[in-house]
Amino acid sequence: MRTKIIAGNWKMNKTLSESITLASGIVNGLNNINTKAEVIICPPFTSLETVNSLIKNSKVKLGAQNMHFEDHGAFTGEISAAMLKSVGCEFVILGHSERRHIFMEPDEMINKKIKKALGSNLKPVFCIGETLEERESNSTFKVLETQVRNGLANVTGSELLNIIIAYEPVWAIGTGKTATPEQAQEVHQFLRNLISQMFSEESSKIVRILYGGSVKPSNAESLLSKEDIDGALVGGACLQAESFLQIISVVN
Ligand code: 13P
Repeated sequence: MRTKIIAGNWKMNKTLSESITLASGIVNGLNNINTKAEVIICPPFTSLETVNSLIKNSKVKLGAQNMHFEDHGAFTGEISAAMLKSVGCEFVILGHSERRHIFMEPDEMINKKIKKALGSNLKPVFCIGETLEERESNSTFKVLETQVRNGLANVTGSELLNIIIAYEPVWAIGTGKTATPEQAQEVHQFLRNLISQMFSEESSKIVRILYGGSVKPSNAESLLSKEDIDGALVGGACLQAESFLQIISVVN
């Protein structure tokens, strides 16, 4: 049985004081709900250290939203793996579609980041997803396969066990349009088969594959009931403790 994960990507939202309010709301709310979910929150860099101290005695785990692949040096504005570790991060989101499309991160760079994260004891939440154009031209599987093969190049079978994959169709992110549970399941099954081919059947049964893209309390249950959907990477609905907790409580 794969433990389901509910992860919140706060994106570029929440000042320090707003982060304190949200993280505290999540920690307190979790005391009142029954859930089997593994809960991860990914605040902006400026809130990581403070949020880490707030979640210390809770089941909430900490992740960052990005990092650079070099250890240190003249990379103005960038953050290293060691810096993330030093403020308590266990996870890091890599290859998010906003990084790919707005900041032009290519697969090769995402692969370097994944390798660096793994070598630094950070667990990558590796995001992939097709655009609307790609889906409409029937190239969804081809695009995803390329992203997975390039992103996971030179990753070993044992390293794979520390990676969480997140399928986030670009057309469903922040649009209110969600993939249907059937559309998502079809892709997740494809991804699990691909992992089986690239690594082993055993690894493909263990690796967690999350769905992301307009996940809300109203659609979480139907998505999470699908066999190959091991959780959710939530954007908009994780910015209020109440809606995030409602999604978490679906996993029981
Ligand atoms: P939304 O839930 O706002 O669509 O964002 C999804 C996402 O990009 C999470 O990483």
